[in-house]
Amino acid sequence: MNIRTYTAALFAVLALSASAEGGIRSWDLWRDTSGHVINAHGGGVMHDGGEYWWYGEHKVYGEAGNAAWVGVHAYKSKNLVDWEDRGIALKVSQDPASEIVAGCIIERPKVVRNAKTGNYVMFFHLELKGKGYSAAKTGIALANRPEGPFVLVKTLRPNGAMSRDMTVFVDDDGKAYHFFSSEDNRTMHVDELTDDYLDYTGKSTRIFENDETEAPAVFKHGGWYWLIGSGCSGWSPNTARLYRAKSPSGPWERLGNPCRGRNPNNGMGPELTWGGQSTFVLPVAGKPDAFIAMFDIWRPHNQLDSRYVWMPIRFDDDGIPYCDWVPEWNPSEL
Ligand code: DGJ
Repeated sequence: MNIRTYTAALFAVLALSASAEGGIRSWDLWRDTSGHVINAHGGGVMHDGGEYWWYGEHKVYGEAGNAAWVGVHAYKSKNLVDWEDRGIALKVSQDPASEIVAGCIIERPKVVRNAKTGNYVMFFHLELKGKGYSAAKTGIALANRPEGPFVLVKTLRPNGAMSRDMTVFVDDDGKAYHFFSSEDNRTMHVDELTDDYLDYTGKSTRIFENDETEAPAVFKHGGWYWLIGSGCSGWSPNTARLYRAKSPSGPWERLGNPCRGRNPNNGMGPELTWGGQSTFVLPVAGKPDAFIAMFDIWRPHNQLDSRYVWMPIRFDDDGIPYCDWVPEWNPSEL
């Protein structure tokens, strides 16, 4: 390759990468700072020491991608647009006796830093290899650096209950709560974690009874706890739902659909969450009113081609959060 061809190729790669100038274009392929497609689905973002860490499910090509063959991928960014690949933070095991052996299911990983211990704790939905979605367990892994390696500490059903789609929310006082779809996805549970975030205090609350809410994403604003979730329709999109409460354990009030506008790429509107499903709400550091709602567009026949939808959260005159489909925007404008 001569220098001219090389330069042209380099510019082509850079043009395809997310860049601070171009900002966030949901639905498009997002590339990391090396030009590789970002592989972090069903993810969550942690802010730590001036940097954002994005953790998500690493998918492989084809239907095999519905199981975990690699692990949880981590990326790092200062501006939420340019993401540097930091490798596999939690690797699946090659030991057939391990509960996280390659071929198990690892979904919706979320990492939180424990201010008391200085450790990083990862929670994820775990299903055992070859057992479909019947195990309904939670995995807890620990690391002393954000990039890992995370080491599996334990797997369990929290307080004895089934646990599938999930998130972890850390409150201003440092108390952490594990929100998870339980009771065969009919009812969500909110379980308080111990101070080291490695276990449960035993305080468990049932919320959204028989609402069949999945994909919980929790944040706090204006004196309210907010939860964006989805209904239960497998990998197919459905209508998002918003709840609010004055405390993590409720009582929670169900409001309407927080999504507005249409995704021009597939023609899907708010009734189908633009074709996506919620995964996390990211509070922008240092900006108390700035939040980003993260969604996944799933492609179960080839999850490697699943797409990311990140939209700025806005608040109406009553302080109720909502998201418009914004085709291109930059977090620096928030
Ligand atoms: C919906 C969940 O939100 C996903 O994480 C995944 O578990 C699929 N169901 C599997 O059908």
